[in-house]
Amino acid sequence: MAEDILLRMTDITKTFPGVKALDHVSLELEAGTVHALMGENGAGKSTLMKCLFGIYNKDDGKIFLEGREVNFKSSKEALESGVAMVHQELNQALKRNVMDNIWLGRYPKKGGIMVDEKKMLRDTKAVFEELEIDVDPRRIMSTMPVSQRQMVEIAKAVSYNSKIIVFDEPTSSLTEEEVEHLFKIINMLRDRGIGIIYISHKMAEIKRISDYITVMRDGCHIATKKAAELEVADIIKLMVGRELTNQFPEKTNKVGEVHLRVEHLTAQYSLLEDVSFEARRGEILGLAGLDGSGRTETLENIFGTATRKDGKIFVDDREVFNKNPRAAIKNGFALLTEERRATGIFSILNIRENTVISSLKKHRSKIGLLSNASMRKDTQWAIHSLKTKTPSQDTQIRSLSGGNQQKVIIGRWLLTEPDVLLLDEPTRGIDVGAKYEIYQLILDLANRGKTVLVVSSEMPELLGICDRILVMSGGKLAGEVDARNTSQEEIMTLAAKYV
Ligand SMILES: Nc1ncnc2c1ncn2[C@@H]1O[C@H](COP(=O)(O)OP(=O)(O)OP(=O)(O)O)[C@@H](O)[C@H]1O
Ligand SMILES: [Mg+2]
Repeated sequence: MAEDILLRMTDITKTFPGVKALDHVSLELEAGTVHALMGENGAGKSTLMKCLFGIYNKDDGKIFLEGREVNFKSSKEALESGVAMVHQELNQALKRNVMDNIWLGRYPKKGGIMVDEKKMLRDTKAVFEELEIDVDPRRIMSTMPVSQRQMVEIAKAVSYNSKIIVFDEPTSSLTEEEVEHLFKIINMLRDRGIGIIYISHKMAEIKRISDYITVMRDGCHIATKKAAELEVADIIKLMVGRELTNQFPEKTNKVGEVHLRVEHLTAQYSLLEDVSFEARRGEILGLAGLDGSGRTETLENIFGTATRKDGKIFVDDREVFNKNPRAAIKNGFALLTEERRATGIFSILNIRENTVISSLKKHRSKIGLLSNASMRKDTQWAIHSLKTKTPSQDTQIRSLSGGNQQKVIIGRWLLTEPDVLLLDEPTRGIDVGAKYEIYQLILDLANRGKTVLVVSSEMPELLGICDRILVMSGGKLAGEVDARNTSQEEIMTLAAKYV
């Protein structure tokens, strides 16, 4: 075996009730390299890493760390042996402060018993300084945005002086600037000879950061190649098992009468100022802009999750107030939030319950009884149209892969049959094949005369599915472009107008 093979996993097999999650998967990681792990939602990426990390017990197969066989029984054991993991779902003690979260379970002690607070603060500062992370170690986790909490998690992984660090979709909630920062950290770790396993659905990131790429499909290893030898189209083909000729469905929607009118929308607690626009029935209207430009705030102010200071909203020329989300739902609005994994999932409920929870009224009989048959039917529709990978409707949502959990939440909002659908980063964390299904569903809604507003950081996505695109900059509307007739450059120029 080559000297610099840090990790060798051979023939790893893992079965859950009704699912063969891993079927004889093998993987080798060289020191000082970034190895990307790719595959559709539910392919087995996170499960493979959890088998390494001691969270799941593999059924079969062997794991060698620097040539020595290991079989971690807990993540603590993995961490102490030099294997760290930044998880897809953040699992932090939100009521505790930053340094508590970093040193939990391994507090530096004074005289054998007392926690040495001073040392803890010093050590935390040292790690943050090294990684150029600007966060107060005493800050309570719950008061920080998700992206900063993510950076704390990354610092924690580095603080173990690990030989191997696994990043499971680390950038799903990071801003562009933070992604750059993370890449700087990863490059630094690579230069130190650390082996990195990097899981992401973002092709551009993978092409930039990785040295090797392994593709998995349906729990099997499909290929491992040098990143430089693979074009994005090759990766997609390996992932979905066929040529994906079209990334976007054909645009068949017809734009009709003005449906939604927003006038002088100004937020109470954010920089959003004087945003006015119209959206027509059957129209897919994009919202482009940099992080923090006010795209999410626009949706939140329309939906009543954020407080409006000024401005009016009209549906078919009738003013609606949308004082809170409940009122907005009554008025025919639905909002798919950006942070749906944190805010949208009822983790102890099953898939059916998670799917129908916002449209229960529809399933109630005149005397108030819930119809099981009708809830099953809707859930079946959602599973089928989004190609959600699950053994059954009765499966607990928390046992689905990250991307498949997202699909359940998307299905939930589609089933409320909204008149105006507000989507914030609808395809985040979703694999390339399933993205197509989501675009098709958006188009179907537009075809039925609904109005759809889409916020996305992925420009090709906006250009591929929208009719018009509003470009935001510094909390204001910087301009409007025709999606069929514009370029990424034009949009970028507008996005920089007020920054
Ligand atoms: N604890 C569990 N109980 C039951 N089934 C599970 C459990 N964890 C994972 N699975 C199943 O194993 C399969 C692989 O899931 P995994 O989370 O590894 O996918 P993934 O490749 O990480 O996907 P994603 O890109 O969506 O995160 C899925 O079918 C999933 O439902
Ligand atoms: Mg996963």
